[in-house]
This record gives sequence, structure tokens and C-alpha cells, in this order.
Amino acid sequence: MDKIIVEGGVPLSGSIRVQGSKNSALPILFATILTEDPCTIRNVPDLSDVDTTVSILRELGMTCERDDAGRLCVETDNPDCHTAGYDLVRKMRASICTLGPLLARRGKAKVSLPGGCVLGAEGGGGRPIDLHINGLRALGARIDLEEGYIMADAPQLEGNTIDLEGPNGSTVTGTANILMAATLARGKTEIRNAALEPEVTDLAHFLNKMGARIEGIGSSTLTIEGVKELNGADYEVMPDRIEAGTYLIAGAVTRGNISVEGVQPAQLESLTDSLEQAGVLLDIGEDQIRVSTNGSIRPVNVATLPYPGFPTDLQAPLTALLTQADGTSQIIENVYKNRFMHVPELNRLGANIRQNDNHATLTGTNNLSGADVMASDLRAGASLVLAGLAAKGRTVIHRVYHIDRGYERIEEKLASLGATIWRDDQGDDPEGETEATRIADHQA
Ligand code: EPZ
Repeated sequence: MDKIIVEGGVPLSGSIRVQGSKNSALPILFATILTEDPCTIRNVPDLSDVDTTVSILRELGMTCERDDAGRLCVETDNPDCHTAGYDLVRKMRASICTLGPLLARRGKAKVSLPGGCVLGAEGGGGRPIDLHINGLRALGARIDLEEGYIMADAPQLEGNTIDLEGPNGSTVTGTANILMAATLARGKTEIRNAALEPEVTDLAHFLNKMGARIEGIGSSTLTIEGVKELNGADYEVMPDRIEAGTYLIAGAVTRGNISVEGVQPAQLESLTDSLEQAGVLLDIGEDQIRVSTNGSIRPVNVATLPYPGFPTDLQAPLTALLTQADGTSQIIENVYKNRFMHVPELNRLGANIRQNDNHATLTGTNNLSGADVMASDLRAGASLVLAGLAAKGRTVIHRVYHIDRGYERIEEKLASLGATIWRDDQGDDPEGETEATRIADHQA
């Protein structure tokens, strides 16, 4: 298994361009199932979650041609495929977004219950999908859970009014699933308490470009007038706000000065507000943000919330920054109560974090020192890389396959900003290499 090795203490400098949004690209790619016409999706990031999505689409009878410029051409080849199997679905919770399109376009679906990150859901593993299931049943689908599979069929979906308010706010992929299904349902659907995340807005724009009739885009009430069929479309995916936020934090945690380009600053307001409270200096332009510091980081209190609140996906990365603060910060996780698997690993680097239920108290130490640590999900993994950039000495992050799910070549992008970081894909240390040659090789 690949490892990432970081020699900390280097202030980052330069600029990087943000990848296309993973959490927008995945539902948009599944939405191509809604038409038999060809679709072209651009600015798709080069990630293992996209690889998994392409494999699932092919398993569902779609042809997918990718070029190395982030463009995917997708077309239905065999519409008689209805099964998204365990082997692929277990890798990625977002596979649940095949359910809505399969039901709407092909009338039935057999989708393995999702796996993916072990976040949320009181009582440990897996994440609830009750809002997805109840919403699709409200559209007339018959759904049973049998032997680890969701068995669904709906000769014709019927529009209805659906409320997606869950115990921790709305559901992002639940809104995506119901929205996609409603585009081909007979009559009108109203989705109340729809998720406001920009990725849902991006999906809605793509669906309307295919000929859907969605109104209220960007609001918590979406109304959809069902149509008979949808056409192919050519669409560019929005930039990844979570990757962008992660790199802004990288600039701050190393006391560097970097520009993150190709962003939509309005989507990052809750993060930039928290960074400014922490004393980080930001120069916010039309589609880029420059980040620097005056050397000191102030403690801040933050509570994660659905959009436009502070994103849960940036909670672990921000925690890495707050280990550097001159004082005590409080972090409350309101979306996934147990999203603190990065905490024991950060404490191995010398952080002083105490977690109690969905609340963490960080006493800044500003003197992390390198160690071996293990990624547990993609954002926790990113947090460990960020902490390694600030720690004295060498940090080795294991199980980086988690990070590769959502970050394009993270070590290359950080090395392009001056970090001393490289990927060791050799498993054990090969014989004969010395420390110096290994670092020299990776700096070439
Ligand atoms: C999406 O996951 C994102 N993934 C997650 O990003 C992100 O953390 C999450 O939204 C919250 O913003 C994708 O978009 C592919 P939810 P999703 O359904 O849709 C509860 C990353 O790092 N809930 O919005 O699966 C749930 O337990 C990933 O890129 C129900 O109760 O999240 C949670 O507490 C991680 N019943 C809350 O809602 C349901 O049926 C939000 O979950 C569904 C969800």
C-alpha cells in the first residue's frame, strides 16, 4: 500500500489550480443514465472515486470514454442492465445515486447497500439511507432490502411532495437521488428541505441542460415538472470547494504564501470567515484566493453545519491548523457525530485534542513532531498531511488510498508549492536507497 512521506517545516509558496468537484461530478455522471443520448462531462477530476463511478456506469450498460483533459463521454449502450454490485458499490457511498436514475429511466434497480466512509450513523459503521428510500417510495417506487441489496422497481414514477429534513439537516446525495428521479416522474414533485450544497445546484443545472424542468435551484424548495424524456448535454463540473479549502489551510499551516486558483470564493465563505478569525490573511479575488499569515494563528470555535454553514468535510483539515493556535479552540461536529478519527492520529504527532462525543477541545501546541500515522477517511487523511507539513521531522501517512479518493495527486500539488513530500509506492523500503538519495530523487 502506498505511503506519503512529509518532511515538515517548509513554508509553501506559488499557486495551484483547483480540480473539478468530486461531489458534483459523481451524481452528474450517474445522471447520464437518465438519457440514451451521449453526454460530455468536462472538468472531471482524476480520482479513484471517479474510476469507481466509471466502472459502475460500465456495469450498468453505459460506454465511458475518458481523455486526459478531464473530459468524459458517456452513452447508454445496453439499457437492460439494472444491477450495481457489491464489489464496486462497497467502495463508495455515492453509488447510491444510481438508484434514482435507474428507477426513473429503466423502471427497476438492484443496488448493493452502500459502504464508503464509516461516518455518521449513531452506533458505528455505515450511513443511513432512510431519506433516500422514503423519498423514492413517495414517488411510487416499490423498495425492499434483501440480502444486502436494495431491490427497487417502478413502472412509472408519480410526482409527489417530499420532505428531506433529517436528524442532522438535509441529505446531499438524498436530494440528488430524488431530484434525478423526479425529472422523469409523471406530474409535479416538490422537494422540501432540499440540501443547499453547491454540488446539488450544479447537478440541477446539468439536469435542466438535459431538458429537465427544475425550479427553485439554490433554494431549499425544489419543484420539478416531470418530462417524458431527457436529452444528452455537454456540461462543465464546478470547481472542488473542499479541495480548495484544504489548500488554503495548507498555506496557513505552513505559514506560507500561496494562491489557490479557479475557485468560487462565495462557496468558501464559512471557511474564509473562520480563517480570518484565526488571524490568517486572505486576499480574495474573483476566482482565486491568496493566503498568508503574520506567523501566529489564533484559536477559533467552529460548529459544522449544512451549507452555507461550516462544511463537515473541512472540519478535519481545519483541526490540523488549530493545533498551531496560541490558545484553546472548540470544534462541534453537527453533521457526522463521530467524525473525529483524525484526532488520535493528530495526537500521535503531539497535538493536544480531547474529544467528548461530537465535541473536540484543542489546546494549540505549535510544536508537532513527525510520526507514523494512518488515514481513516479522505478528509482525515488530508488533515494528517497538513499536520505533517507543520510538524518537525518526518511524518509517514499510511493508507493513502483514502486520500486518493478525493484529492488529485496531493503530494505532487504540494511539492509544486515547495513542500518536501513524496509518495512511497514500494511498500517496504527498497534495499540500498539512502535517506539523502530518496529525498533528492523526489525533489528532482
Ligand atoms: C455528502 O454525503 C458528501 N458526499 C459528503 O462528502 C459530505 O460530508 C456530506 O454530503 C455532508 O455534506 C458526496 O456528496 C458524494 P448526507 P452524503 O446524506 O450525501 C444523515 C467527502 O468527504 N442522513 O448529506 O452521504 C447522515 O447520517 C464526503 O467528500 C440520514 O439520516 O451525506 C448525516 O448525518 C464525505 N438519512 C447527514 O444526514 C439519510 O437517508 C448528512 O448526510 C441520509 C443522510
